[in-house]
Amino acid sequence: MKSIYQIAAALLLLSLKSYAQTTIPIETANYALVLQTDKNNYLSMVHFGKKLSQTADYKDIAGSFKFPDDNSGIYNNAYTPAGTWNLSEPAIQVTHADGNPSLDLKYLSHQTVKPDANTTLTTVQVQDPVYKLTVTLFYKTWNQENVIEQWVEITNQEKGPVVLQKYASANLFLSNKDFYLTSFQGEYLKEMQPQEEKLTQGIRTLDSKLGTRAMLLGTPNFMVSFGQPAQETNGMVLLGQLAWSGNYKLDFEVDSYKNLRLIAGINPYASAYTLAAGKTFKTPSLLYTLSDNGTGQASRQLQRWARKYRVLDGEGDRLTLLNNWEATYFDFDEPKLSGLFTDAKNLGVDMFLLDDGWFGNKYPRNNDKAGLGDWQENVKKLPHGLGYLVKEAKTAGVKFGIWIEPEMVNPKSELYEKHPDWVIRQPERPEKYYRNQLVLDLANPQVQDFVFGIVDGLFTKNPELAFIKWDCNAVIYNAYSAWLNKNKLPQSHLYVEYVNGLYSVLQRIRAKYPKVPMMLCSGGGGRGDYELLKYFTEFWPSDDTEPIERIFLQWNYSYFFPSITTDCHVTDWGKQPIKFRVDVASMGKLGFDIVVGHLTPNDLAFCQQALKNYTGFKDVVWHGDQYRLASPYENPVASVAYVSDDKNSAIMFTYLHTNRVMQSATERPIKLAGLEANKRYSVKEINLYPGTKSTLEEGKVYSGSFLMNVGINPDVNSRRASVVLQLTKAE
Ligand code: DGJ
Repeated sequence: MKSIYQIAAALLLLSLKSYAQTTIPIETANYALVLQTDKNNYLSMVHFGKKLSQTADYKDIAGSFKFPDDNSGIYNNAYTPAGTWNLSEPAIQVTHADGNPSLDLKYLSHQTVKPDANTTLTTVQVQDPVYKLTVTLFYKTWNQENVIEQWVEITNQEKGPVVLQKYASANLFLSNKDFYLTSFQGEYLKEMQPQEEKLTQGIRTLDSKLGTRAMLLGTPNFMVSFGQPAQETNGMVLLGQLAWSGNYKLDFEVDSYKNLRLIAGINPYASAYTLAAGKTFKTPSLLYTLSDNGTGQASRQLQRWARKYRVLDGEGDRLTLLNNWEATYFDFDEPKLSGLFTDAKNLGVDMFLLDDGWFGNKYPRNNDKAGLGDWQENVKKLPHGLGYLVKEAKTAGVKFGIWIEPEMVNPKSELYEKHPDWVIRQPERPEKYYRNQLVLDLANPQVQDFVFGIVDGLFTKNPELAFIKWDCNAVIYNAYSAWLNKNKLPQSHLYVEYVNGLYSVLQRIRAKYPKVPMMLCSGGGGRGDYELLKYFTEFWPSDDTEPIERIFLQWNYSYFFPSITTDCHVTDWGKQPIKFRVDVASMGKLGFDIVVGHLTPNDLAFCQQALKNYTGFKDVVWHGDQYRLASPYENPVASVAYVSDDKNSAIMFTYLHTNRVMQSATERPIKLAGLEANKRYSVKEINLYPGTKSTLEEGKVYSGSFLMNVGINPDVNSRRASVVLQLTKAE
C-alpha cells in the first residue's frame, strides 16, 4: 500500500510534468541568452551570460533561483506587458481597440533559422490570450563576434486601431549581485563623456527628447559591468546601443532582488502610436555584445561586427581630406577655393571638402542666419557653379566633396517663404530657433522627395562629386506637423515618422548611389548610431578637435565604433605641436582643417610625410583590432594599438597628456596585446618631426611574447609627448 505522502508526491510530480516547458537558447560562440516558458506559459529570460557546454543544462537554470515573491515571476519576463499583474517598468503598454488598457502575453511558438554559417535568427511569438495582439520577438546573432541584435514586431489583429503607448525594442534580465552602468553623456564640444555609477534599487533612465540631433546631451550607448566597475581586460561586461536616430529611452531597473532589468526602445514621450487593424509596427534594434574579458574584448567584437556587417563599406577604403570650415568659415570665393585645392594636393590628401556657405542667393549663406534650404550655388561666391569647382579640383589632382544640411531651413530663405507648411512649428505659437533655424517635416513625403532631390540633384549635375558631409544642427522645438494634421494622423506620430522619413530618404539615396562616401555630422557629434551607419561611411564625433581632449573623446567612442568610422581632423585647436595633433588624428580617419599656407616649412614637410606614413599603416588602423593599452583616465600617458588580422603588423600610439612635472615620462614599458607570442617583430618609430631622431634603437627585434609580457617603453616625455611605433613581423 502506498502512503498518503507517496501518493501526494506522485501527484505533485505529475502536475510538474504535465506542462511542457519550452527552453529557447540563443547562443553565440561564447555566450547565451536563454528564454523559457513557465507552467502558465509566460516567457522569461532565465540566463544571460557564459554559454554552457551542454545545451540540455539550460532548462535547469531557472530552478536554481529562489525569489519568493508573488510578483517575482514577472520580473524576468522576456517582454513585460503593462496593465495586468506586472508592477515593474513595462516593455509594452497598449490601449486596445475597445479602450481596454490591459495586456497579457503568453508564449505561442518559436522558430530558429540559420541564414548563413555565422548568423542565426530566432523569432518568438507571444500573444494576448484575450485580445488579438501578437508580439514577435526577434533575436539575430553573429556567432563569431558574439553580437546580438534584438527587435520586436507588434501586430494588431483586432477589429479596430490599437494605441501603442510604449513599445520597447528589448527587455533584458541580468541576474547578478551588483551592476555598474557607464553611460556616455555630453553637450556640444563635450560629447561622449563617460559616467560610471553603481546601480541601486529603482530606475536609472537614459533618454533623449530632442527629436533630431538626439545625442546632443546623451547617447543611447551603454556599458554594464557585472559585480565590479568596468575593467579593460577582465570581468563580465555588456556593451550596447539602441540603434535609433531619434528620441530614445533606456531604463535600467534594479529589482528588490538586485537583478537588473533593461528596457530599451523609442522614447514613449509624446509618441503614442496608433496602429491600424491588420498592421504591424517594427521597432528599432537594440544591439549588444557580452564579454567576460572586460571592455577590450567587448569593443573589439562590436568594432569587428560593425566593419563586417553594419557600416556602409565598413571593410573598404576611405578618403583623407582637407576641409575648409575652420580655415575660411563662410568667407570664400572661387579663387580662394582654387588655392585650397592646390594646398590639398600639396599636403597629400585625397580630397577637398567644401563646407557650409556655398549656397543661397536671395538670402546668401554668409553666416548661419540665412540661406538654409536654398541649395543653389551662390552666384557671387561661385559664379561658375559647383561643376567648375569639381573640375578645378580634378585639375589640381584632388577629389571634391561638399557639405549639406538638407533637413533644415532658415526662416530667411526662399524655401521657408514657399513652403511654410513643410516646417515643424506650432501654428499658434511664436517660432523658436536653434542656431537660427527650424527643422523640416520629414514625416511629409513631399519633404522626403525634396531632401532626396538635393542629393540626387548634386550627383546628377556633378557625377564626379566624391563625398557628402550631411550635417544636422538643430533640435526639434514646438513639435507639430501640418502634414500629419492634414492627413488626420495623430501628432504623436511625429517623432517616429520623422526618423522613419529620414531612413526612407537614405534608402533611396543608397539605392541610387550605393557607394559614395558620406559623413554623418550633427553640430559636432549629435548623431552617430548603427542605424544611420548603414547609410554613412563615417561620422563626425565632435567639433572639439583639441588634441588632448580628442585622446579622451576617441577613447570613449572606440568602445562602440571602429576607427574607420571616426573622422578625426587636424585643426589649430590646442597648444600642442602639429606632430601631436596629426598623431592623435591618425588613430581614426585622418583629415585636416587648417590653413596649409600658415604651416612652417618643417610643419608642412612633417604633415606630408605623416600622410605618406598613414597610407602605409591605415589598413591596420581601419581594419585591424584595437587594443586600449593605457587609459588616459588612469595614467599621465595614454596608449592605443591596432593589430592586423594576420598579426604581422601593428601600430602603437602613445601620448603624454599632462603637464605635471612628476608624471612626465614613461618610466615603465607598456605591454602590447593581440600579437602572436612566437612571432618576432621589428619596431620602428615613425612620424618623426623633421630634424629629430628617435631615442629608440631603429628596427630592434622583439618576440611577441616579450612585447606582450614585458612591453616596450616608447620613451614618451615632455620633449617627446607623442610617439608612434610601427611593428612589423621580422623575417
Ligand atoms: C557644424 C559642424 O560640426 C561643423 O563641422 C561645420 O560643418 C558647421 N556645422 C557648419 O555650419
